[in-house]
Amino acid sequence: MIALENAFVQYGHARVLNDVTIQAAQNEIIAIIGRNGAGKSTTLRTMMGLLPLKQGRRLYEQQDITRLPVENISRLGIALVPDSRRIFSNLSVIENLRMGGLAHKPGYWTIERVLEIFPRLQERIGFGGDQLSGGEQQMLSIARALLGNPKILLLDEPTEGLAPVIVNDLIEVFGLVHQQGTGIVLVEQNFKVPMRLAHRQYVLDHGSVVWSGTSAELEAQRDIVESIITTGVTHEH
Ligand SMILES: Nc1ncnc2c1ncn2[C@@H]1O[C@H](COP(=O)(O)OP(=O)(O)OP(=O)(O)O)[C@@H](O)[C@H]1O
Ligand SMILES: [Mg+2]
Repeated sequence: MIALENAFVQYGHARVLNDVTIQAAQNEIIAIIGRNGAGKSTTLRTMMGLLPLKQGRRLYEQQDITRLPVENISRLGIALVPDSRRIFSNLSVIENLRMGGLAHKPGYWTIERVLEIFPRLQERIGFGGDQLSGGEQQMLSIARALLGNPKILLLDEPTEGLAPVIVNDLIEVFGLVHQQGTGIVLVEQNFKVPMRLAHRQYVLDHGSVVWSGTSAELEAQRDIVESIITTGVTHEH
């Protein structure tokens, strides 16, 4: 289980996360949703250990990892797929996968298995990273993260800007990854994709969790959540 407990995070003097408490167990898929600038990427980076907490705690399996460096957090089995899809554009698909394999930890996911779940990557195995479509780059970025056999996968807007058919493929893959025992923290700007995958969801606005609940609860309060995402909530600071 990875968690932030009453986390406050700032960039310089600008406070970006206010008292955020979010937990994700290894056996679940949770979603963090919210509009532009709500603090979603900051939350993922904080979970990963890329940003320090001003206040509050970062926890893994009930242990305090607030001050643990990102390398150590990565070794605990937390992997981040950033929104920028950092693949090597001058390397081919297979070379990118081998680079990912350098951090390989024994486990279910091997180069063969990631190519099975991403047949498009298999078809483009010798293509350069710069010859891939946005969707293929996203697949490669996810495939590389899987090769580390993470216990928890943090995904920053993985479906943004992708064609519906590719989004469907990714949803299927996330389901398979979860079945193999990896927890998923999925960040999205709306609940369209999370509704098809997540067990629980958190809505962030202005750096605070303004709603949380199961996907069934979200369905029942769809209008309320929808209005938070589109127009925000009024805040007392
Ligand atoms: N490196 C940075 N330095 C200063 N401020 C930043 C930095 N990165 C983000 N911010 C600010 O922090 C706030 C939260 O940003 P964050 O990227 O976490 O939002 P987000 O929910 O991921 O948004 P998006 O949906 O656009 O990706 C925003 O106001 C943003 O302008
Ligand atoms: Mg973001």
